[in-house]
Amino acid sequence: MKFRRLGRTGVLVSELCLGTMTFGWQVEEAPSHGLLDRFVDAGGNFLDTANVYSDGKSEEIIGKWLVRHNREGVVLATKARFRTGDSVNDLGLSRKHLYRAVRDSLRRLHTDYIDLLQVHAWDPLTSLEESFGTLHRLVEDGLVRYIGVSNYRGWQFEKALQLCRSRGWNEPVSLQPQYSLYARATEFELIPMCAAENIAVLPWSPLGGGYLTGKYKNGVRAPPSGTRIAESNDVEFYARRFENERANRIVKAVETAAREAGKTTAQVALNWLLSRPAVTAPIIGARNIDQLNENLGSTGWSLSTDQVAALDRASEIEVTYPYDRRAEEQQSSDRPWA
Ligand SMILES: NC(=O)c1ccc[n+]([C@@H]2O[C@H](COP(=O)([O-])OP(=O)(O)OC[C@H]3O[C@@H](n4cnc5c(N)ncnc54)[C@H](OP(=O)(O)O)[C@@H]3O)[C@@H](O)[C@H]2O)c1
Repeated sequence: MKFRRLGRTGVLVSELCLGTMTFGWQVEEAPSHGLLDRFVDAGGNFLDTANVYSDGKSEEIIGKWLVRHNREGVVLATKARFRTGDSVNDLGLSRKHLYRAVRDSLRRLHTDYIDLLQVHAWDPLTSLEESFGTLHRLVEDGLVRYIGVSNYRGWQFEKALQLCRSRGWNEPVSLQPQYSLYARATEFELIPMCAAENIAVLPWSPLGGGYLTGKYKNGVRAPPSGTRIAESNDVEFYARRFENERANRIVKAVETAAREAGKTTAQVALNWLLSRPAVTAPIIGARNIDQLNENLGSTGWSLSTDQVAALDRASEIEVTYPYDRRAEEQQSSDRPWA
């Protein structure tokens, strides 16, 4: 596996990040440790979790694995923001909750620092000064090495970045958005912003939660057993998302490219993402070793230009105002002025 710079930092991360949302939920402790071992053996060094995954069990499982492995050999990312208890302040990005969340994550992870602490989502209640001033202090205190954001809109991210810059605070170095052949609205505002600011993009749900593998042949209302959608108690949510012409078209295009490239559908969907501008490391999820091995096979080769173009066409979404004005912007910047 190759390594890429984590945005503007001097830290190198593997081009695939191992997501651990299923640890303690669909994957028990021992097989989770097997996935971690396999990922590291394959050359991966980048792990993503969150304090709320399986009510902290994901972090605990990683922590138990970490004590027997080289802590310095991995780049460990976690998140804070969502509810962790019943009290009114057991969520959000206040100084009170952030310090508590970091302390709890460090305890569960059996480590004394977090490499990348990401705010899991925007907090409309807390001022950016309080949240990002606290994140800056967490870095200064040595509890966190870098900070990042997840699920922000473009204006929110740019505002946070400019605030940090104006105060001389540690700036966020990464964005974790939903991004896949299915979820391409991320390309409107966030990807150009991250490219312009040299921010690392870490796409979550790169396989659309498994949908892009094409295994939901009979639609998501009749999911194969032992899959995320079959185990979900909100199948209607997935039906709204995936039972439409565009989603079917994308899966067909992925299957065609897979046949042509001699790869699997999962490998094609991940490889497409690996080639996108600003993407540093898709966060891969896996229920078992077979899935992980397959997903690891998404690196080390490239789709042809024609295959990428066919996937782009099948997954394109309507570009509306003001994102439809790129050609005019280009003309304007080409204008002779001196
Ligand atoms: N920041 C956020 O808000 C946020 C949100 C979601 C996720 N994340 C992060 O992103 C990571 C990945 O998200 P995700 O799990 O949704 O990613 P994903 O890659 O879209 O979906 C992974 C799921 O797809 C299925 N799958 C994976 N590889 C497969 C293969 N080769 N063949 C067939 N099925 C396969 C498995 O589910 P089944 O076996 O059940 O079908 C697996 O659990 C998470 O672990 C987490 O770290 C972040």
